[in-house]
Amino acid sequence: MTPHHTYRTLTGTSRLAGVMGWPVSHSKSPRLQGYWLAKYGIDGCYMPLPVKPENFETALKSLRDLGFAGVNVTIPHKEAAMAACDQLSDRAKRVGAVNTITFTENGEVLGDNTDGFGFVENLRQVAPDSAFASGPAVVLGAGGACRAVLVSLLEEDCPEIRLTNRTRKRAEDLATEINDPRIKVVDWPLAPDALLGASLVVNTTSLGMVGQPKLEIDLDGLPQTALVTDIVYAPLMTDLLVKARERGNPIVDGLGMLLHQARPGFHRWFAIDPEVTQELRDFVLSPD
Ligand code: ATR
Repeated sequence: MTPHHTYRTLTGTSRLAGVMGWPVSHSKSPRLQGYWLAKYGIDGCYMPLPVKPENFETALKSLRDLGFAGVNVTIPHKEAAMAACDQLSDRAKRVGAVNTITFTENGEVLGDNTDGFGFVENLRQVAPDSAFASGPAVVLGAGGACRAVLVSLLEEDCPEIRLTNRTRKRAEDLATEINDPRIKVVDWPLAPDALLGASLVVNTTSLGMVGQPKLEIDLDGLPQTALVTDIVYAPLMTDLLVKARERGNPIVDGLGMLLHQARPGFHRWFAIDPEVTQELRDFVLSPD
């Protein structure tokens, strides 16, 4: 029996969680967390919570007062969530955004950012033999999604990060904020040169996503052993990944980052560290 065929009713002691976003209808989190709740037979519930930006703080405190175990926070609330928390994890502070909140028994609001954890765990699970953090990493993009990737690579002791973005100023600002000499900003047109000797390439731009232009980058200088990954997961096989695979590089698609970033929240709220499996991937990708 697959988990989505299992249904259990809620009880008076059900654990409650959800995802706050505006809009939230696109979020895959209810499906993902709901799959795990069913798989592990947990007396709990995870619901979409459409919350307008102006109501964020009131809604958050209300969820705490309603006895929720915690919530995920998605666009556009990730920065506001940071200000609304009583305590922040080190990685949330370093990333400057919160995506996972836990309410303690005495009413404290704890904020964490698990995006970088999701990024690294995905690489570890799909490419266990890759020494992706042993050499220079090339990171394309400097938007919100990029920060967590940078912070997690620094935590993995990556010796050098070549950060390149169409708007150089944004990459410079990000490097200044994170303030680690291992981050070197490279001009966008020079990205192909930055691939020389790299052990990891990460696309954090929206290029390659459904409805967006392709990411056009010449991979000739990239060592064949370098791991290539994309945080775009619609489509799963972006042009970058197709091109990298054709020339023999190991590749990791972006869906796993989404699945793994959800684990710490589920673990805290429902007391089980859930597994990311092929069946889960298929379930999350299948139509609702
Ligand atoms: P998010 O916060 O989700 O990462 P974002 O802040 O809009 O989204 O960032 C999108 C990223 O894709 C940025 O790095 C952006 O580059 P700019 O900072 O120059 O805008 C990058 N991006 C989007 N469209 C692009 C394009 N046509 N060419 C190059 N980079 C592009």
